[in-house]
Amino acid sequence: MPLDILVGAQWGDEGKGRMVDLLAAQADLVARYCGGDNAGHTVTVGEQTFKLHLIPSGVIHPHTVGILGSGMVINPAVLFSEIEALAQVGVEIHPERLQISYAAHLITPAHLALDRALEQQRGTDKIGTTLRGIGPAYTDKVARRGLRVGTMLNSQAFHQELRQHFEEANQLLTTMYSAPPLDIAPILEEYLEYARHMAPYIKDVSATLTKAIHDHQVVLAEGAQGTLLDLDHGTYPFVTSSSTTASGALNGLGLGVGCVGRVIGVTKSFQTRVGSGPFPTELDGPIAEHLRGTGENPWDEYGTTTGRPRRVGWLDLVLLRYAARVNGLTELVLTKMDVLSGLETLSLGIAYRLEDHVYEDLPLGPGALDAFQPVYEEIPGWQADIRDARSWDDLPDAACDYILRIEELMGIPVRMVSVGPEREQWVEIA
Ligand code: GDP
Ligand code: IMO
Ligand code: MG
Repeated sequence: MPLDILVGAQWGDEGKGRMVDLLAAQADLVARYCGGDNAGHTVTVGEQTFKLHLIPSGVIHPHTVGILGSGMVINPAVLFSEIEALAQVGVEIHPERLQISYAAHLITPAHLALDRALEQQRGTDKIGTTLRGIGPAYTDKVARRGLRVGTMLNSQAFHQELRQHFEEANQLLTTMYSAPPLDIAPILEEYLEYARHMAPYIKDVSATLTKAIHDHQVVLAEGAQGTLLDLDHGTYPFVTSSSTTASGALNGLGLGVGCVGRVIGVTKSFQTRVGSGPFPTELDGPIAEHLRGTGENPWDEYGTTTGRPRRVGWLDLVLLRYAARVNGLTELVLTKMDVLSGLETLSLGIAYRLEDHVYEDLPLGPGALDAFQPVYEEIPGWQADIRDARSWDDLPDAACDYILRIEELMGIPVRMVSVGPEREQWVEIA
């Protein structure tokens, strides 16, 4: 079977975890390929809600094997506390159920301290990172001084590399950022202990996945973050530090380019963003309050990882078409359609205006969006609560028209619509 890739088509938090959980019912392996615990993926099954940061959302299904690919940065403290938290709610993770690439990189307390120091130094220009040490860990990787997971298998070499890493970080922290140094001895011990626990999980996941695909197993790549947070293709510099797009899945898992089947883009039926950076269709006022919610529902727009209120706005089809292009999306999934219920009129951002020009596509990528004014098309809303809809016929005509118009303007099919956070709250679109 080919590799199916599920990717966020916006600025993250599109509902990827919830959709992966649905698709994983048919999958044998589910693989994360980018980022680290900056991700927060929510899966709701009955009374239980799981918030996963590192472990693929597909592992809630007991038959699946989870993979953490080489494109990831892994904080072992978070990994083991997530494994423990999952065990407490009946999801057992052990080396038969989770493989970690030897080529993934580690996040340490030095990366956390540097992330904080860098953001402080940026002041009002801060990126609004999740403060999980993501940027500094990838910086070390690119500078070829990172700590690779595989080194954990050689305790002498690991000890030496760790010590050097902490010493260099302390020098940076104290001289560049006037930040306090880390107390190296206890964290060295802590990381050597993690190495012992991590050893049985460390594998060549490229080989595992290639064999699985060859043996006709179903492999699903679980994107983290979103297209517009991609280091190369996002709203730079307000991005994360990894390749979040579909092509990142191949590199971040060590797979050849010929193996891809479906490329599923997940988008909310409106737009959100957490952290700084441009957002042309951003709203404030009563409609923003409607979209964001007050925080009393678990799905209201407050970050899964940071708890920060998310910025909200109308669905931006200029950016979504861009996401379709850079990922090669074969289909779309629309989430949170239920949240639009009760709005009199909906707007779709269909183009941008700059002086006398109207652009249906970005003239020079999504870097400098601030200058553009969105051009909207208005569409009638619907009042009915659609959370119990399970088929096309259950949806109000206005909701069907909204979906059909998106398909028309995108030129790719909407295959599924999600109408609530729970596993069964979705509609297949024929
Ligand atoms: P991810 O990072 O893409 O996995 O998304 P998050 O889990 O960070 O954020 C999505 C939020 O929306 C979570 O609280 C989900 O439970 C919730 N959610 C997902 N799909 C739907 C939906 O169709 N309707 C509603 N109301 N909530 C949803
Ligand atoms: P999931 O997988 C939403 C954002 C941060 C910040 C920028 C850089 O749950 O969709 P970083 O800590 O990565 O250096 O922060 O990226 N960001 C996310 N926003 N969802 C995420 O993940 C995100 N991961 C990072 O808010 O703007
Ligand atoms: Mg999230």
